[in-house]
Amino acid sequence: MKTKSIWGNPPKRLYKLLNILKSENRENVEICIVGCSDGKFLMPFARAGIKVTGYDIDEIALYGGEKLFPIKEVNIKYEFNTKFKSKDFPLEKRRVYGVCERLHLENLESFANVKLLDFYKNTPSDSFDLVFTSCSLHYSKNAEYSLQDKVQKLGSIVKKGGYLYLDYMMAIVEDDYENFPESKFFRKGQIKNMLSDCFEIIYNKENFNPSFEGAHVDCVKDHFHRFGYIFARRIK
Ligand SMILES: C[S@@+](CC[C@H](N)C(=O)[O-])C[C@H]1O[C@@H](n2cnc3c(N)ncnc32)[C@H](O)[C@@H]1O
Repeated sequence: MKTKSIWGNPPKRLYKLLNILKSENRENVEICIVGCSDGKFLMPFARAGIKVTGYDIDEIALYGGEKLFPIKEVNIKYEFNTKFKSKDFPLEKRRVYGVCERLHLENLESFANVKLLDFYKNTPSDSFDLVFTSCSLHYSKNAEYSLQDKVQKLGSIVKKGGYLYLDYMMAIVEDDYENFPESKFFRKGQIKNMLSDCFEIIYNKENFNPSFEGAHVDCVKDHFHRFGYIFARRIK
């Protein structure tokens, strides 16, 4: 039985990373997904027979349970406008699968090691061929650490010759530190300087225009995000 993440399907760039690792014919490859949630980015590695570790602080995303979803009759996609205001959508509870349930249903448990762990607070000492995180850095839970600290913690568990992939939220208004605090939102060009000289950057893309995201699980409003992506290799 093939299962699905509540966050939709992974983007093509995930499969590009997977193919890079496959093409290098490494032995005993190990991947780490920090903030693995219900497995959107973890399941493709397990399905490819690659050993993957996932950490998250969200028990329901790991083990299953009920989450709140917005009730929307129509989905309208808005263009960005600084004055945009969304209504609060009413919420309803729905049962969702956790990543552990998904692994079980797809008979993939032997490829994955999933742990309830606050990664930035209790950074493990294991090391991996690829460390991947998608939008975990900005969580309020992590606001006590600077972005630099968080990036360094992620980098610390990459093996020499391994890769680090991060996608991250950027400030929509660069000089608005009240709504886009520095501990949560990157400014243009900032992340490059946070990686130590142990890393060589393969690409770093930062969107200029905010993209629309409809109200989703645990979020009652339609809203906009501005994203950045960085992919780097540990050279020493
Ligand atoms: C935005 S969600 C990822 C959702 C989905 N995979 C996607 O990007 O479409 C980020 C995940 O990071 C997790 N997270 C945030 N801070 C964390 C921390 N300190 N340690 C472990 N997981 C964390 C959250 O619980 C959440 O499940």
